[in-house]
Amino acid sequence: MEFNLQDVDSIIDHWGPKPASLLQILLDVNHQYRYLPQEAIQRVAQRLSMPVSQVYSVASFFKVFSLKPRGRVIMHVCTGTACHVKGGPRIIERLEQDLNMKTGETSEDLFVTLETVNCVGACAAAPVVMVGEVTYSEMTPSKTSLLVKELREKES
Ligand code: FES
Repeated sequence: MEFNLQDVDSIIDHWGPKPASLLQILLDVNHQYRYLPQEAIQRVAQRLSMPVSQVYSVASFFKVFSLKPRGRVIMHVCTGTACHVKGGPRIIERLEQDLNMKTGETSEDLFVTLETVNCVGACAAAPVVMVGEVTYSEMTPSKTSLLVKELREKES
């Protein structure tokens, strides 16, 4: 979604332009754009009469916020012990190769953000890959390639 000052203003108006609303406002903005655009942070600071640096420090403190654009698909590969032992690293390698990017990055077309996660509690199904809230069990590099292909097809 394109950045739009009016959208940010309506979020601020909804929660009230006061410092106590900061977290709720940032959560909604982050949800809307999948990250916190710099212009949004500046607008929030201005409307809440807070220093921009203070809004930035809150935004960078909580892991739920992203200061960089994120993909429409958020993919997590588990790097916990069980998944590691059962081939997690080979899945990461395949994804980096298929997507032509490194873990921790977002593709240029904003299709996907690739991240790792420590044990998601599904060790019996290791190695696992998560797409949003959905867990894919007993993954292999080729199953993962297929999954990426399906996700791309679903998008187009
Ligand atoms: S180590 Fe991957 S789910 Fe537990």
